[in-house]
Amino acid sequence: MNLENCHNFHDFRLLAKKRLPSPIFNYIDGAAEDERTYKRNTASFDTVDLVPNVLNGTEEIDMSVEVMGQKLKMPLYCSPTALQRLFHFQGEEGVAEVASKFGTLFGVSSLGTTSLVSLREKYKTPQCYQFYFHKDRGLNKSMMESAKDAGIDIMMLTVDTVTGGNRERDLRTGFSIPLKLNPRGVLDFVIKPSWGINYVTKGKFTLPQLDDFVDMSKGSISIGKYFTEMLDHTLNWNDVEEMVKFWDGQFCLKGIMSVEDAKKAVDIGCTGIVISNHGGRQLDGSRSPFDQLSEIVDAVGDKIDVLMDSGIQRGTHVIKALSLGAKAVGGGRFYLYALAAAGKNGVKRALSLMQTEIERDMRLMGVKNISELSRSNLRFR
Ligand SMILES: Cc1cc2nc3c(=O)[nH]c(=O)nc-3n(C[C@H](O)[C@H](O)[C@H](O)COP(=O)(O)O)c2cc1C
Repeated sequence: MNLENCHNFHDFRLLAKKRLPSPIFNYIDGAAEDERTYKRNTASFDTVDLVPNVLNGTEEIDMSVEVMGQKLKMPLYCSPTALQRLFHFQGEEGVAEVASKFGTLFGVSSLGTTSLVSLREKYKTPQCYQFYFHKDRGLNKSMMESAKDAGIDIMMLTVDTVTGGNRERDLRTGFSIPLKLNPRGVLDFVIKPSWGINYVTKGKFTLPQLDDFVDMSKGSISIGKYFTEMLDHTLNWNDVEEMVKFWDGQFCLKGIMSVEDAKKAVDIGCTGIVISNHGGRQLDGSRSPFDQLSEIVDAVGDKIDVLMDSGIQRGTHVIKALSLGAKAVGGGRFYLYALAAAGKNGVKRALSLMQTEIERDMRLMGVKNISELSRSNLRFR
């Protein structure tokens, strides 16, 4: 199997599985506990059918959207994900280059392996900074100030990680940063030498957003410890309200699931929310964002930009979410498997296939632009 044979999400996933040592593959592929929420995220799209209108042909299809003041050439963006250089040595750099080519938004994680400032300097496409809130308020302020100075378009605070999810696949393989593998995990690195050679020879693994504050090099703090010791587990709405004021720009909460919280986000001055369950990686048993979307859009959709992620594998998933009222849709694994499979060429192919699917689906639905999509095109089973 190679990149040319990858025609959809599942193909990229298989190629990623073939290329990556299993602890790393399972870190991407896995989710919390029994992974029920993870499975439901995609299955929930099957509870709704599309009802097309015909004889509305057009040459031009416009799939651009505007979200939190940013023009995106396509309605699907790359959600922020950690540790991309572990998946392929081109990491965030490759993802940013491709997102820029497609004119869409990408997010850089607090646990990103490339500096968000360097990406900002190089690529002009909309960029968001996925932020974790630290106990040290001074540290939060200085991180926000440098992101603001760099010209980051959107501050995206993740609010569903007050503690780490129980990801049992990682417990089995011993995946952690710094890597502490069990014998089976070590064997898997040995039988996938090309990954190891690239990892060692193609630049140093760093966490530039945190390097000034967290010393991972001597194993003095692991990512697990970073979450338990440095992040503020008492984070509340007042803290976030202050943060929104301090940022004084586009501010988005990622991981909102209830109508009540969506209303609070409006009240404290956020300009966007991402309905998300972190791709099923946090609270197993929580509802899927697509199942929850209409409730939230009905409550706050005219006051704030409502985005969603989790479970996106197809163009039709994007079309269904937009028809229900999402302003844009994010995905994680759809581009991460592709990155792992073939670096930036993989990400390019994944985005290109999605773009082609969305365009084809819009033609088949009989719509010329995204604003023509509505709930009248959907029927729940
Ligand atoms: C390997 C991996 C790492 C992730 N890292 C982060 C992160 O650092 N911060 C964050 O807010 N979300 C993170 N996410 C969640 C994504 O931003 C997104 O919510 C999720 O991937 C969407 O689900 P999907 O993978 O089914 O598309 C991560 C997801 C994956 C798969």
